[in-house]
Amino acid sequence: MTEPGSTAPTYPLPVRIAGTGSYLPEKVMTNHDLELTVDTSDEWITSRTGIRERRIAREDEFTSHMASEAAKRALEQAKIDPADIDLIVVATITPDTLTPATACYVQQQIGAFKSVAFDVSAACSGFLYAMELARHAVGAGAFRNALIIGAEKLSAFVDWNDRNTCVLFGDGAGAAVLVPSTNGGGRILSSCLGTDGAQAELLNIPGGGSACPSTPGCTPTKTATLAMQGREVFKHAVNAMRKASTDGIAAAGLTIQDIDLIIPHQANLRIIDAIVERLDFSRENVFINLDKYGNTSAAAVAIALDEAHRQGRIKPGDKVLLVAFGAGLTWASAVIEW
Ligand code: UT7
Repeated sequence: MTEPGSTAPTYPLPVRIAGTGSYLPEKVMTNHDLELTVDTSDEWITSRTGIRERRIAREDEFTSHMASEAAKRALEQAKIDPADIDLIVVATITPDTLTPATACYVQQQIGAFKSVAFDVSAACSGFLYAMELARHAVGAGAFRNALIIGAEKLSAFVDWNDRNTCVLFGDGAGAAVLVPSTNGGGRILSSCLGTDGAQAELLNIPGGGSACPSTPGCTPTKTATLAMQGREVFKHAVNAMRKASTDGIAAAGLTIQDIDLIIPHQANLRIIDAIVERLDFSRENVFINLDKYGNTSAAAVAIALDEAHRQGRIKPGDKVLLVAFGAGLTWASAVIEW
């Protein structure tokens, strides 16, 4: 109820990011390590992708564990007690179990017992899909706040004998806390999401779902490992991320000259370079960490956002463009005024 004399809030409320966090497993796997197991070279991986090393989770370290660590760091920065969190959305394609959702395990692990928790599956675009859902949920006043997380244990779904894919992916998690922006501070200005299900076959994990289950008596004909038509995906990635960027910037009422920092999905340096060139943007103002972590799918933009924030690359008032692309095919952008 509104106090006498005070003004009733106008919905939708603007929503801002109050804290970010990330977590990377300790174990580093370098390109040279991979040279010992598949027919590849550091030179090929570095020149074709920009990746030098990636992190690999322990066998007993699941997606939910990494998600929870990232979440705790984001909550600490936001100065919000886990018990006060209303909504948890985990974006992942590598859940601990098919059901329940990884978000349910996170809820238990961090002690956010009052929250509603569920997952979204939108591959590398998942963190930005989660952000858009949470922005509307909090902006509408249905939830006081939201914890959004991108987390992946891709090492558990990679065919370590397939050089086309195993050199690309890594494990990790990133998180952000969303709250209403009531004091005129920063806010998420716009978002732009897209999906093209006609291209679903280009990048998928064909086995392990209801189409090819691994139940007793059923012989899976397809494995539960990542399969990708890399060259085709590459072309779609460049076009979709360029368009998502320009559409997101226009929806925010801005031009590319207004953007201070771009945080793109971290799949391939050549994809990032192609987008930056098409947007006519300065490469210096693009945040890149794929050399250290490889492609961590839904976690990639979330980890990069946290690192950029903690390294002081984002200052109050800055306009930041987040943009991603992944299996589905899916793509997404968000423009944030910090
Ligand atoms: O995060 C979701 C979205 N994912 C992406 O955006 C990924 C998009 N795709 C890519 O990043 C690139 O297509 C890849 C990095 C996956 C591949 O790079 P490419 O330049 O498109 O290589 P390619 O697949 O056309 O393969 C070129 C050659 C092939 O040999 P031939 O047929 O020319 O003799 C491959 O067999 O490179 C070979 N190759 C490798 N050689 C050494 C493929 N993987 C490797 C490897 N080491 N690891």
